[in-house]
Amino acid sequence: MKPFYITTPIYYVNARPHLGHAYSTVVADVLNRFHRMCGQETYFLTGTDEHGDKVVRAAREEGLSPLVYVDQITELFKTLWPELDIEYDYFIRTTAPAHARVVKEVLQKIYDAGDIYFSEYEGAYCFGCERFYTERELVDGRCPDHKTIPEVIKESNYFFRMSRYQDWLMEHIETHPDFIRPERYRNEVLAFLREPLADLCISRPKTRLQWGITLPFDNQFVTYVWFDALLNYISALGYPDGKPFKKFWPTVQHLIAKDILKPHGIYWPIMLKAAGIPLYRHLNVHGYWNVDEAKMSKSLGNVVDPLVLKKAYGSDAFRYFLMREMVFGLDSNFNEEAFVQRFNSDLANDLGNLFSRSLTMVHKYFKGIVPQGEAGTESDLDFGLRANAEKAIQDYQKAVEDLAFHKALMAIWEFINNINKYIDVTAPWELAKRESQHKQLQTVLYNVLEGLRVIAGLIYPIMPRAARVMQKHLGLPSADSLQTLEDLKVWGKTQPGTKLPKTITLFPRVEQVKLGPKAMEALSLKEVSTLAKPEISEKMFQKIDLRVATVLHAEPVPRSKKLLKLKVDVGEERTIVAGIADSYQPQELIGKHVVIVVNLKPAKLMGILSQGMVLTASDKAICRLVTVDGPSEPGTPLT
Ligand code: ME8
Repeated sequence: MKPFYITTPIYYVNARPHLGHAYSTVVADVLNRFHRMCGQETYFLTGTDEHGDKVVRAAREEGLSPLVYVDQITELFKTLWPELDIEYDYFIRTTAPAHARVVKEVLQKIYDAGDIYFSEYEGAYCFGCERFYTERELVDGRCPDHKTIPEVIKESNYFFRMSRYQDWLMEHIETHPDFIRPERYRNEVLAFLREPLADLCISRPKTRLQWGITLPFDNQFVTYVWFDALLNYISALGYPDGKPFKKFWPTVQHLIAKDILKPHGIYWPIMLKAAGIPLYRHLNVHGYWNVDEAKMSKSLGNVVDPLVLKKAYGSDAFRYFLMREMVFGLDSNFNEEAFVQRFNSDLANDLGNLFSRSLTMVHKYFKGIVPQGEAGTESDLDFGLRANAEKAIQDYQKAVEDLAFHKALMAIWEFINNINKYIDVTAPWELAKRESQHKQLQTVLYNVLEGLRVIAGLIYPIMPRAARVMQKHLGLPSADSLQTLEDLKVWGKTQPGTKLPKTITLFPRVEQVKLGPKAMEALSLKEVSTLAKPEISEKMFQKIDLRVATVLHAEPVPRSKKLLKLKVDVGEERTIVAGIADSYQPQELIGKHVVIVVNLKPAKLMGILSQGMVLTASDKAICRLVTVDGPSEPGTPLT
């Protein structure tokens, strides 16, 4: 089975995460979970775009250096995603050295191939913004921000010969109808390509921008932020030789909104072609979220903070609304009232009530024990329920593959209706009245539980929490194990005789709108900066007691793949549990002079009390111990 690789845009760190960023990232998560359910190996990439003058200006507004500022905002994205149950595989930052290496390598390759040239550029430059404006961007000939008339200046820069690839790209798009989808965006790119394509200026002189990746062939220039950013999709996989690159790149699908169609639909395929890298498989383009019928903007004060909504309504409901309300490809409107209405009608009423009423009956009539159904045979008590389930699964699968998430949810909700009707028609409460109909009662409730098993499985990509709660209450083997689409297609997987836990309310009704437009607005950076890694004073830093320690003994921690138990000498003997087993064999550690945080609150890990923490330099791929450069007495403080 083919692997699956999905990317989101890497978001600029000039603003905090909002509803639009959350939508793209939730869609990627939904697709990723869906493809996992299909049994595919998947890779989900997101991250932040940290270079360029936008970021420098935003940092300046906050009175911070770009370096400190990008760390703070990136932390906000990283903190938000798990809150929304987004499980990405890798978070790329364009300030990471490994990314810069790839950018330089690709630039050099294209330069050597003769597709980058040096030339003079003349244009309208606003010194306030430190950037050129095109005629179209100016308002009455003035800078839209500073209201000043830009000066015409000449500047020498490096240009990427995109024009050379114009015909080739047009043909590629014409012969690959699903390269850019939905069709309206494919047509937009084709229309663009029918006009002459200008070469792309891919450098900025360091005299006006230093915050970027230095060109490998001229250290007086940094790379234009888009040329840098797009390459994240391959640098994150360890291009050119990384195993993930070889495995996942051939199947890559990008996910973006219409605002960045041009760089992704035109610059990026041409960059790939010029660098001799195979093209992406699909570019999936969605529309824009407006809020209360207006464009989301700081100045209108209607920027919706996903975290505020999650806290008020829960992450499942938030994800559900986004997926149900937007038709992928078209713009959509966010409104809290509509959100609450959907919550109550779809989640609390339709799904929640079906779940409660079904389980209440199992508890009432069978003391909470799954009754024996007629699993193998289609009895006359089926009333087409099994066929309904098959149809729901089929429609759902097709809809997700077509990115029609609203239709996928409609297919599930149709099946919810089917089960509700099934209960009404078979009337278990009547069957329960007569001993002679006990068997029928068993069959009916067994079928209902099976129907709910299918629903729980299908909602999993969109509402992973509710899915797990349902699965637990349906007595399915392990609430954490993934029900694959194949599992769902087989009727009769619920085990009779299983004791079900006490029932709960899946989605308690929301009585009224909780927030109102003002409260949905994003908090200021300062208010949320507690979520991010804050700047600290030297005094605070000095509270961390770092010491040199000599490793005396190391052994694996039983039943753990990651942990090693170390005995170290820091002037006294201590036990430390460290997650370094992936990178070190116990015996190679003996005698090493490592660095330990000695005043960390002791914590139990796998039953062992760890009295401190050992410092490592690590990202996802590598983990190296921090050591001191030469002999040092155990217990020597680091200053
Ligand atoms: O463009 N509705 O970053 P960005 C829906 N760094 N989605 C929205 C949205 C809205 N109102 N507003 C933003 C950049 N988005 C570049 C990308 S990629 C190599 C570099 C989402 O922070 C949507 O996914 O401006 C859009 O494409 C993206 O945020 C733009 O994010």
